[in-house]
Amino acid sequence: MDAEMIADEMVEVPSPIPISKKAEKPDMMVECSDNLAFMVNLPADFCKLIVTSPPYNLGKEYEARTGLDDYLQLQEQVIAECVRLLHPQGSLCWQVGNYVQNGEIIPLDAALYPIFRQLGLKLRNRIIWYFGHGLHCSRRLSGRYETINWWTLGDDYTWNLDPIRVPSKYPTKRYFKGPNKGQLSGNPKGKNPSDVWQFPNVKSNHPEKTSHPCQFPVELVERLVLSMTNEGDVVFDPYMGVGSSVIAALKHSRVGYGCDNVPEYVTIAQQRIAALKRGELRTRPMGKPIYNPALPNGGH
Ligand SMILES: C[S@@+](CC[C@H](N)C(=O)[O-])C[C@H]1O[C@@H](n2cnc3c(N)ncnc32)[C@H](O)[C@@H]1O
Repeated sequence: MDAEMIADEMVEVPSPIPISKKAEKPDMMVECSDNLAFMVNLPADFCKLIVTSPPYNLGKEYEARTGLDDYLQLQEQVIAECVRLLHPQGSLCWQVGNYVQNGEIIPLDAALYPIFRQLGLKLRNRIIWYFGHGLHCSRRLSGRYETINWWTLGDDYTWNLDPIRVPSKYPTKRYFKGPNKGQLSGNPKGKNPSDVWQFPNVKSNHPEKTSHPCQFPVELVERLVLSMTNEGDVVFDPYMGVGSSVIAALKHSRVGYGCDNVPEYVTIAQQRIAALKRGELRTRPMGKPIYNPALPNGGH
């Protein structure tokens, strides 16, 4: 029996039917599918936010490592199809790290930049996602950040700052001179979270950890969902993994779409979404401080 036949026997492909049939219009759809095959069935202008973390061509268990040119060519096809699906006021967020070859690093956002530009998109932010843990390198500095590249189609894009404001450093600070003397100088709703974000990455002690080797944290996507979409808008992840983007969308009354071509991950995504709907899914809450060993109970 060859390996393909064994795999066919063992793998049960999850149903493409949306889990929720309660609402007339489904609030989500997750499917086990190649993303190009999935996207071809979706209408143009359908998604307000497309957010994803593609494979980095590192030879992880879910990807076949190829030459960088082949990798970029396939990314171009997927990104072009995403652009077709993007609402005129929509955003495309591509979360990537480094491709590494013989110890040389190639930042994937730099390699992908010309592709996005040629497709007519405009870069709004290159967000640095900083995390405290990862592999320790011996011949270069250990990598502790990746980037989220926020692109829009036009200048009139959906943008809500208030839901993602963070506490000001000096909330009681007041103007000390001028016409507003004595009044609070900062926004009482908090400050802009800036383009450097610190969230723990999903390692073994993270409440969201599944068997997927490279999940991104739900709280990271929640920030994007809240600021770049309104309630009822469609959020789509073409490399969905275990459904973190769909979960972030559903948590905030958006419509979540996603696909992944590995049946095991789609099954886990469906289980996590079902747990969310029962109110039983554990996610790290937005706004929870980073663990600080110098503080009692880590500052939690
Ligand atoms: C970096 S992971 C994304 C993980 C996801 N952000 C999460 O939180 O679970 C990339 C995912 O892309 C999937 N993938 C790779 N090629 C694909 C394709 N052609 N179509 C759909 N999914 C694909 C892999 O199976 C993998 O789960």
